[in-house]
Amino acid sequence: MSRRIVLLPGDGIGPEVVAATTKVLDAVGDFTYEEHLIGGAAIDATGTALPDETLAACRDADAVLLGAVGGPKWDSTDPGRPRPEQGLLGIRKGMELFANLRPVRPLTALLDASPLKRERIEGTDLVVVRELTGGMYFGRKERTADSALDENAYTRAEVERIARVAFRAARRKVTNVDKMNVLEVSRFWREVVLDVHAREFADVPLDHLLVDNASMQLINAPSEFDVILTDNMFGDILSDEAAMITGSIGMLPSASLGEEGRPGLFEPVHGSAPDIAGKGIANPLATILSGALLLRHGLGLSDEADAVESAVDRALERGLRTPDLGGDATTDQATQAVLEQL
Ligand code: IPM
Ligand code: MG
Repeated sequence: MSRRIVLLPGDGIGPEVVAATTKVLDAVGDFTYEEHLIGGAAIDATGTALPDETLAACRDADAVLLGAVGGPKWDSTDPGRPRPEQGLLGIRKGMELFANLRPVRPLTALLDASPLKRERIEGTDLVVVRELTGGMYFGRKERTADSALDENAYTRAEVERIARVAFRAARRKVTNVDKMNVLEVSRFWREVVLDVHAREFADVPLDHLLVDNASMQLINAPSEFDVILTDNMFGDILSDEAAMITGSIGMLPSASLGEEGRPGLFEPVHGSAPDIAGKGIANPLATILSGALLLRHGLGLSDEADAVESAVDRALERGLRTPDLGGDATTDQATQAVLEQL
């Protein structure tokens, strides 16, 4: 039976990189696709960034592949106006995707594409495990003429379940990142992490870093990290920082997962890149690699996932470079290069 994948191309370069990825998926399996609106495209068509039917289709799918949302057309500081990002946040919450996994592993062929020195980044193989449905992103919001508020709250259950994901993903250790020297929510977060560790994962080495220090260590000695466990806000920032280790944010995939057995959502970490949208030059590799995560974590097809990842590696080894990596390959050429290696 063919597996059902919901496609949410979204805005900017989203449709281009999603189309590239379905070509790659079709080369390794038999999938049916259903396309739905999200983000700015959905605002234009329906007035809301996350139409009910999009959420319903995603909940019903075997897996969801998302491109990107957002763009200057919909940017506004007016809290009353719909924002494309509400589509993304709404789908994460609506599908209960509390765990966001962002693996960072610089490919050998790209070691010199990173702004960091080769010796610094060699051997880096880490994953940011970011809590995705709580914290400041989803707390109470308030706005008056002279003040604004974003509440940062976590419950024990929320911290426990993301901590478990991190401990299970660990190969060497877990580094918990918080700001417990200042924030009450971080002191609570750390207590719960220590508790889950003591009760269920005492054999996994665990250390702790304050987020400011962690952001420094990530540049200083990225290969020291294995699993970085952190909250929604810090995870957003640290994962962009970690992306630069790979040379380009155009390379970083992500998986957003909920409870076992529920559909996951897979998307590149980069955004909609409105400046290059429609030009056919977007790097599709982060989305193709998200497609590999979809195969592995979303559909349990690990052999197919391995095949896609190693095809990307080989294409890069043979010289494939899109403009973000200092080359001039188009989206189509990049996709063909991966397909050839498959
Ligand atoms: C990400 C993005 C989103 C986030 C935005 C687009 C809402 O930056 O997935 O990291 O902040 O989570
Ligand atoms: Mg981000």
